[in-house]
Amino acid sequence: MRDKRYDVLFEPMAIGPVTAKNRFYQVPHCNGGGYRDPSAAAAMRGVKAEGGWGVIFTEQTEMHHTSEITPFIELRLWEDQDIPGLRRMSERMKSHGGLAGIQLAYSGVNGPNLYTKEVPLAVSAQPIRTFTNDPVQARALDKSDIRDLRRWFVNAANRSKRAGFDLICLYGAHGFGIFQHFLSRATNHRTDEYGGSLENRSRFVREVIADIRDAVGDTMGITLRVSLDESIGDLGFSNAEVRDFVEMNRDLPDLWDLAQGTWEACSGPSRFKEEAAQEALVQGIHDLTDKPIVGVGRFTSPDVMARMVRSGTLDFIGCARPSIADPFLPKKIEEGRIEDIRECIGCNICITGDMTMSISRCTQNPTFMEEWRKGWHPERMNAKGDSGKVLVVGAGPAGLEATRALADRGYDVALAEAGRVLGGRVARERLLPGLAAWGRVVDYRAYQISQKPNVESYFDSALDATSILEFGFENVCIATGASWRRDGVSRQHVVPFATDPGMPLFTPDDLMDGGAPAGHVVIYDDDHYYMGGVMAELLVQKGCTVTLVTPAAYVSEWTLNTLEQHEIHRRLARMGVTIVLNRGVTAIAGDHVETNCMFSDTRSPIGCDAVLLVSSRLENNGVYTALKARAADWADAGIKSVKLIGDANAPGPIAWATYAGHRYARELDMPDIGDALPFRREITALAAD
Ligand SMILES: Cc1cc2nc3c(=O)[nH]c(=O)nc-3n(C[C@H](O)[C@H](O)[C@H](O)COP(=O)(O)O)c2cc1C
Ligand code: SF4
Repeated sequence: MRDKRYDVLFEPMAIGPVTAKNRFYQVPHCNGGGYRDPSAAAAMRGVKAEGGWGVIFTEQTEMHHTSEITPFIELRLWEDQDIPGLRRMSERMKSHGGLAGIQLAYSGVNGPNLYTKEVPLAVSAQPIRTFTNDPVQARALDKSDIRDLRRWFVNAANRSKRAGFDLICLYGAHGFGIFQHFLSRATNHRTDEYGGSLENRSRFVREVIADIRDAVGDTMGITLRVSLDESIGDLGFSNAEVRDFVEMNRDLPDLWDLAQGTWEACSGPSRFKEEAAQEALVQGIHDLTDKPIVGVGRFTSPDVMARMVRSGTLDFIGCARPSIADPFLPKKIEEGRIEDIRECIGCNICITGDMTMSISRCTQNPTFMEEWRKGWHPERMNAKGDSGKVLVVGAGPAGLEATRALADRGYDVALAEAGRVLGGRVARERLLPGLAAWGRVVDYRAYQISQKPNVESYFDSALDATSILEFGFENVCIATGASWRRDGVSRQHVVPFATDPGMPLFTPDDLMDGGAPAGHVVIYDDDHYYMGGVMAELLVQKGCTVTLVTPAAYVSEWTLNTLEQHEIHRRLARMGVTIVLNRGVTAIAGDHVETNCMFSDTRSPIGCDAVLLVSSRLENNGVYTALKARAADWADAGIKSVKLIGDANAPGPIAWATYAGHRYARELDMPDIGDALPFRREITALAAD
C-alpha cells in the first residue's frame, strides 16, 4: 500500500493538450544504442512504461541531416524512413498509460556533421564545440536559413506526430541544442533581430514554438528544455537571465524542462553532487510562470520528491539515472515497497555507453539495454533450471548479484564470504573520499538477500578446493575478486620493473587496510580510472604532500567518459596535488622515482618518501584453479559446474562485476548455445543496389 505522504506524486497533471497520469517524468537520456539498436532502445523504454513512469522520453533525436553529432549514436528523424523505428518506441512508451515524448535536437555549433558532410549551420560563425575539438567551423545562419530551420522543425514535429508521440521536447540545454545557442551570448553574436537583447535572443524559440503549435499543438504538448545556469563565464546564459527569460515568456511552452548548465554539472556524479543538487537554481521559478516545471537532481528518495512537489518547486520529478538504475521506481513507491528501490549510485557508468558509442550499462541494473538483446527483465528472472543448489564463493558485487538473482530464480544458495561483511571491494571503496553512495550496490543486495528464505550467508568462510568438494553443491560460482598489484605492472610496464626495497611501496589495498604513508608520496597512476584521483584525495586528507604521475594526457583519463575528469583535475589542483601528465615511471630508487616523458623519453627524478602504485589488479582465482585441477573428482562430489566470474575472472569496473553475477544467475542450467551469438542484434537492411 502506498504511503499517503507520496499521494502528491500520483496526481495527474496536464501538459498542454495531453495529461500525464503521475509526476514521474523520465527526462531524455541516451543509451549508446540509438539508431543502431532501435529495438533494444524501444524495449528499454517499454520496461520503464511497465515500471509506472507517467512521461517517458527518447534521447536527443537529430531532427535534420544538416546537424548531426557523429560519432555519438543517438536517434534520427531525418526523413519518413525513420518513422517506423520511432513508432515502435512510442508504442512501447505508451503501453502502460504513460505519455511518449521525443526530444528534437538541432545541434548547430555542436554538430560537426562528420557523417553527412554538410557545412554546419550555427547561430553565429564559430569553431565547432565538441568533446573532440573537431577541426570544423560552422557558418552563421542567414535569414533564409532561419526560415528553412523553422520549416524543418515543423516537418520534424509532423513526423513525430505520425510516429505516435504525445510530447515534443525542444532541446536547448547542456550547451547542446540551437535554442540555447540563440539564448546565450557566448554563442549568439548576431546584430540582427535574433541577437543582442534577451527579447531578440528569445525570438527564434518563440517562432519555432508558435510554428509547431500551429502544426500539432492541438494534440501534442510542447516542452522546452533550457539550462538553469550555463556557467561558462560572463557571457553564458546565467540563472538570473533564465529567470528573466521565463518571466518574459511565461506561457511559451506547455512545460518548462529546467536542467543545469553543462552536461557535466547536470549529470554530476555522486562523488561531487548530492541528491537535489539543482534545487537552489530552480527554486522560485514557479512564481514566474503558469506552466508546469520538471527538474532533475538524481532523485531516488520519495520523501525528497514529495517535498519538491509540495513546496511548489517542481511539478514533475525528472529522472534520467534513477530511472535507469530502477525502471520500476514509481511502481515501488506506489506499492509501498520503498526498501526495494534500487537506488542509482551516481557512478555515471551509464554515460560511458554513449561516450564510447558502444551500448550503455548500469552498475545497479545489469539488465539495462539487455531487455531486448537478452530478454532480461529488471524485476523478473527466468524460470528455475534443473539443479537445486548453488554455492557462491565471495560476497563482492559479482557474488552478491549472483546470489540475489539465483535466489529470485528459486535456487537454494549458500553464500560463503572469507571476511566479516558483505560487499567485497565495494565495502572497502565506499569508505573512500566521495564514494559513500557506491555502497548502495551492497545495501540493495544485502537487503534483498536478507528477505530470501532460500539464501544462507556464511562469514569467516575462506573455502579451499577440498572443503568445496566435501560440501558437494551441484553448482559452484567463484567470485573471489581481485587485488591491486604491487609490482607496477599495467600498461607502461608489462613486466615488473626495478624497485629499491628501501622505498616504502603501497597499493590502494594497503591504504584501504589502514596503511599510512607519510611525507611526500608519489602516486604512479597507470590505471587511469577513478582510483588514482581518489587515493590522491585520501592522502591529502591524511596530511601527505602528493604528486600524481601518469603516462596519460589527463589525470584519471577514463573519467572523461563518466563526465568527471574536469572536476577531478580541478579538485586535485585546488587541494595542492602536483599533477604530472604524459610521464611514466621507469624505476623506483630508495629516495626518488625516475620518470620519463612518454614522447621524448627524457628522464627526470622526483624525490619522495613513499610511492603508491595504482597500476592493475590480479585475479584472486586460486580456489578456482585448484578446483579445476581436481575436475576428475567433481562427479563423485556431486558437482555439475564450476564457474569463475567477476573480478576473479578478469578485473573491471563494478558494473562489469554486477553484470557477470547477473549473467551467471540467468544462464545457470540453460542449454549450451555453442558458438551462437549470446544476444540479439539488428543489422541495417540492404537497400536496392
Ligand atoms: C546516459 C545519459 C544520457 C543523457 N542524454 C541526454 C539527452 O540525450 N538529452 C538531454 O536533454 N539530456 C540527456 N541527459 C541528461 C539527463 O536528461 C538529466 O538532465 C541529467 O542526467 C540529470 O538527471 P538525473 O540526475 O536524474 O540523471 C543524459 C543523462 C544520462 C545519464
Ligand atoms: S550506471 Fe551508475 S549513475 Fe548510471 S544509472 Fe546506473 S548506478 Fe546510476
